[in-house]
This record gives sequence, C-alpha cells and structure tokens, in this order.
Amino acid sequence: MKHFLATLTLALTLPLAATAQTPVWNEIKGELKLALEAKGDAQRGKSAFGPCEGCHRADASGRISGAYPRISGQHANVLMKQITDIRGGRRANPKMEPFIDDHVLTPFDIADIAVYLQALPVSATNGKGPGTGVERGKQLYEKDCTTCHGAKGEGDAAKFYPMVAAQHYKYLLREVKFIRDGDRRNSNPDMVNVIKPYSTADLEAVADYMAQFKPVAP
Ligand code: HEC
Ligand code: HEC
Repeated sequence: MKHFLATLTLALTLPLAATAQTPVWNEIKGELKLALEAKGDAQRGKSAFGPCEGCHRADASGRISGAYPRISGQHANVLMKQITDIRGGRRANPKMEPFIDDHVLTPFDIADIAVYLQALPVSATNGKGPGTGVERGKQLYEKDCTTCHGAKGEGDAAKFYPMVAAQHYKYLLREVKFIRDGDRRNSNPDMVNVIKPYSTADLEAVADYMAQFKPVAP
C-alpha cells in the first residue's frame, strides 16, 4: 500500500515537474528554424568545418576512444538540432562551445556544415564494445529502441531521431548514461522513460549492440 501510494504521488507530481523544468525537446523556433529553412551549401560547409577537425577529424569520423563522436553521415536535421541545442544550453558541451558560439557561426553556417556532413561517407571502423553484451543488447534494443532509431540504427531524419549505427561505443555509452540520468536535457521524454529503469549493465549491453551496426547508406 505504501509503495502504491508513493507511485501514485510520483505519477501525479512528475508531469508537473517535467513541464516546469524540462525544455521542449523538439521545439522548432529561432535559430533552429532559420537553419532548417536555409538551403545549406556543402562547399561552404566544408570550409566552415575546418576549425572542427581538430576534435572530430577531417573525415568527421571522430575518435575510436569515444571522446569525440562521429558526425559524418548524420542526418542534417539532427546535426542542426544538436548544434543549436548545445548553443542554447539544452545540452552541455563546454569543450566545443567556443567553436560554435554565435559570434563564430551564423544559423546559415550551421546549415552549410550540416549539409556537408550529412553527405560524407561513414567509416565502419568505429570503436566497438566488448561484444559480451550484444545478445542482451539486441533484446533491449528491439524492445525499446527500434521504433525510433530503426532496426539497423538508421534513425529518422524527419523526426530528428539520430542515426546510431557505426557510432563509437564509448560515446554511445556516455550518452545513454546522460539520457538516463537526466544530464542530456534535450532528450525526447519518451526515450528517457524507457531508459530510466536501465541498470548500467543494460546500458553497456545496448551500447555494445548499437556499435555493431554497419554504416547505413543515406
Ligand atoms: C574541442 C573539441 C571539439 C571541437 C573543436 C568541436 N567539437 Fe563537436 N563535439 C565535441 C564533443 C566532446 C562532443 C560530444 C559531447 C558529449 O559527450 O555529449 C561533440 C559533439 C558534437 C555534435 C553532436 C553529435 C551527436 O551525435 O549528437 C555535433 C553535431 C558537433 N559536435 C559538431 C561540431 C562542429 C560543427 C564543430 C565545429 C564548428 C565542432 N563540433 C567542434 C568536441 C568538439
Ligand atoms: C521516442 C523515440 C525514441 C526512443 C524510443 C529512443 N530514442 Fe534514443 N533518441 C531519440 C531522439 C529524438 C534523440 C535525439 C534527442 C536529442 O535531440 O537530444 C535520441 C538520441 C539518442 C542517443 C544519442 C545519439 C547521438 O548521436 O548523440 C542515443 C545513444 C540513443 N538515443 C539511444 C537510445 C536507446 C539505447 C534507446 C532504447 C533503450 C532509445 N534511444 C530509445 C529518440 C528515441
């Protein structure tokens, strides 16, 4: 009974708390709207990407260590959203902030870069997990993640669902922890709800499985 009451109180107060504190994860306005409406130019994007290469590498494949994600081949919509979310403080990334500050990049530059990156080939030599969690990870992924991220990790550009295929294991693991623990505040709340009950071993397993996906052709 006690447990039931606690759950009930939680269920009643949570939606209120969520509307008060969590920013709407996919509101299209301001600079994101400007970037989405702009017709990005890949050639201009290539030069604007220059300062990013120190971390994300010239081919945008990131680092096997997971310190820097692969951003080549990612859906342009997703890239624009992530960059503007980071600028807007909805996702923390202090190391990168000076490079994407609004004194450095306009929304039109962001569109150029996103169009350029989306068309880059995706390398299959991403950082893999230990492999021991793949079987369990597959069960979890197919139950909880396929509807949004796709059976092959391809995501869905129109809905801002990222492609997670061929991403570095350690980056995936870091992000799913951020999502579970509420540290990635731009996350889709439906995803947060499915990941909330995951143990750290579950997160390791599902990241292990996602890192096995082969690159998906755009
Ligand atoms: C000083 C290193 C550094 C530089 C320079 C840098 N980034 Fe990043 N970037 C990062 C890190 C670290 C992350 C991952 C943060 C995290 O763990 O959430 C990241 C994440 C991203 C993401 C989100 C990827 C995803 O899958 O959600 C995008 C998009 C991105 N960077 C684009 C850029 C662009 C464009 C530039 C240049 C204008 C740039 N970055 C320059 C370090 C850097
Ligand atoms: C309701 C749709 C939905 C479901 C279900 C969902 N996700 Fe997501 N996921 C998203 C969206 C949307 C984003 C990007 C959110 C944002 O803008 O930060 C995302 C981002 C991510 C990222 C970060 C990708 C990157 O490049 O930074 C990872 C990793 C991830 N999801 C893993 C999972 C896993 C594992 C599951 C299942 C346990 C799952 N997601 C279930 C919609 C979903």
